[in-house]
Amino acid sequence: MTIPKLELHLHLEGAAPPAFIRGLAQEKDVNLSGVFNEDGSYRFDNFTQFLRTYEAATTVLTGPEEFKRLTTAVLEQSAAQGVIYTEAFISPNFCGGGDLGAWKEYLAAIKEAADAAAKSDGIILRGIVTCIRHEGPDAAKPDALCAAETVGDFVTGFGMGGDESTGVQGDFAYAFDMAREAGLRLTTHAGEWGGAASVWQAVRDLRVERIGHGVQSIDDPALVDHLAEHEITLEVCPGSNVALGVYPSWRDHPIERLRAAGVKVTVSTDDPPFFHTTLTREYDRLADTFGWEDDHIREVNQNAARAAFCDDATRERLLKRLEPAA
Ligand code: ADE
Ligand code: ZN
Repeated sequence: MTIPKLELHLHLEGAAPPAFIRGLAQEKDVNLSGVFNEDGSYRFDNFTQFLRTYEAATTVLTGPEEFKRLTTAVLEQSAAQGVIYTEAFISPNFCGGGDLGAWKEYLAAIKEAADAAAKSDGIILRGIVTCIRHEGPDAAKPDALCAAETVGDFVTGFGMGGDESTGVQGDFAYAFDMAREAGLRLTTHAGEWGGAASVWQAVRDLRVERIGHGVQSIDDPALVDHLAEHEITLEVCPGSNVALGVYPSWRDHPIERLRAAGVKVTVSTDDPPFFHTTLTREYDRLADTFGWEDDHIREVNQNAARAAFCDDATRERLLKRLEPAA
């Protein structure tokens, strides 16, 4: 039996298949030159270019209907990989530019697609409202307000992505405090590019309970102990890290060392079509590189269920599905 998969770190726009974005560009007569390679894949050579290509691709996602179609395409893709639960980063920047009224319309469209996918494929989606680090702390405030005003069964988390080289985590404390007070669960990208110090900042200054990536924690044994002791879960995306050059190869990736040190690690794809990956491929590579077997795969998916930003009844149902067959 294949083990059901849970994914905690997936950017909704970043999961858009290139053919989907190309199709919308044709429909809307938008020129996306520079976004694609000759073979149709997304074009970038480094993280800065990746962010530029990513943002250029989102320009064809012009309204709620486009996000509804995107959500349907992404959930179909995930369900085909055996994913039963996924959390997606959704940014008000791309969904109405931070305007609360527009955000609610985008959200309703995304939810409509998610409800349909739950019915047809049994896949559950939850939304993590996301501010963008390189847009700065002032831009994060309307994002947090959008999150606070729509927290509920679907919007359950608040997070931050973007370029970690701009500012420090603590610059965004106001937005994270607002989200926490509204009852949202918190995560932030740290320790992807920013070193172990950025993970300490995320834990201390933003008081997050999960870390996006967090892999550079491996360089600080005291931090590794802290993460393990406080069960701060890492949303690890090995294929993304290797594709973007955080680590030169799968062999060099620290996921197995973190796991062996007692850190709660989970496995996600980040922006799968950009990195030519799927969740199945990630587990295949983990098996090939580190000898992961079914027990390891079950363990990290159980970690994901325990750290998921969902209600306890959903969590129990997910954990039940992860139990080995008797
Ligand atoms: N947005 C989409 N993918 C990202 C990544 N890997 N790091 C930071 N921000 C992102
Ligand atoms: Zn990410």
